[in-house]
Formats: sequence, C-alpha cells, structure tokens
Amino acid sequence: MTERSHPVVQAGGPVLRKRAAEVPRDFLATSEFRELVHRMISTMRAAPGVGLAAPQIGVGRRIIVLEDREELMARLTPAERAERERTPFAVRTLVNPVLRTVPVDPTSGPARVTFFEGCLSVEGYAAMVERDREVEVSALDERGEPVVWRARGWPARILQHEVDHLDGTLYVDRMHTRSFMTGAAAKERFAGKPVAEVRRELGL
Ligand code: CO
Repeated sequence: MTERSHPVVQAGGPVLRKRAAEVPRDFLATSEFRELVHRMISTMRAAPGVGLAAPQIGVGRRIIVLEDREELMARLTPAERAERERTPFAVRTLVNPVLRTVPVDPTSGPARVTFFEGCLSVEGYAAMVERDREVEVSALDERGEPVVWRARGWPARILQHEVDHLDGTLYVDRMHTRSFMTGAAAKERFAGKPVAEVRRELGL
C-alpha cells in the first residue's frame, strides 16, 4: 500500500550507483525543490525510515532528509538505545551536505561503532556496518541557509548512510558480509542483545 504511493528505488536501479549532482542555489527557491523535499519526507515517513536520499526516489541531486521518532525506537530496550546513542530528533533537510569526521575524546568511548543497519533500497535485509561514532556535517538547509550539525551516535550513522547514497554507495559496500541477513532474522536472533554478543555469535 505504502509502496505504491511512495515507491523507493531498489538496489539495481542505476540512479543508486551514480554520484548525485550538486544542487545550484537558485533551485532552492523553486516549487520543484519544495515538492521534491515534501515527497522525500512523505516517502521516509511512509516507509517508515529514519533517512532518505533523493536518488532513492529517482532524483540524482545532493539532497537528504533525516528524522528519528520515538515510535521508531519503541522496540529497543533502554540498554539498546543507550548503546546506539539513539534519541529522537526533528526532521532535517540537508542540501549539498559535506561530512567531516570529528576526533572523539578517547575517554568518552570508541571512535568507530558497529551495529545492524538497513536501507529502504535494500528492502528486507540488514547487516552490521562500522561507522564513525561522531561526525560534523556542513550543508544548506531547505531555506538555503548554511548549517553545521555535529552529531553523535545514531544520527551520525544516519548521516553517513545518507551521504553515502549521494556518492552511489550502499551499506552493502561497507558491511561485514558475514552479518548480512534478512531483517526478520536479525530481529529474531539479536533483538535486545548487546552488540558484543552479536559480534561473537557472528564471528566478527
Ligand atoms: Co539507504
């Protein structure tokens, strides 16, 4: 039902493997831009997902949207939320985003973290992916204002995943291949388990 009204390009679609084009500033003033962003946010929410890149709806432009909501993390235990550093944040639109790794103070935990991750363009599957724990993104917002956002934990993961899409990269290019499985299997086998135990069981 949601697939039909909000289709997401699946792996194999050439647009997912091309570098998306920089967005010219004057495009931000057009109704085409506003409609595109609206469609991206509707598609992300209908899925539901926590992020979407324009190529995933067939548009090769450097635009991403992200949002995390309480109901999307309802099945996670408090320990899982804490381990992922996952908390809700309001919807953001980022145009021409540029990512920078932030050096993490070693006393505050690891610089790289590994968790299961999925993608609306690789429907039904999940895998363990190592990402920077903290990143800084510079971009334009939907009004064309420059923004800098320093994100840690799950929002940082979403940012890296979505910016990858703009460069034609999917999580399967970065995953621990031995951890690739259906989302159902990941849920059934590993829901509620600390990531150290998941790694052990998968031999990572
Ligand atoms: Co994705």
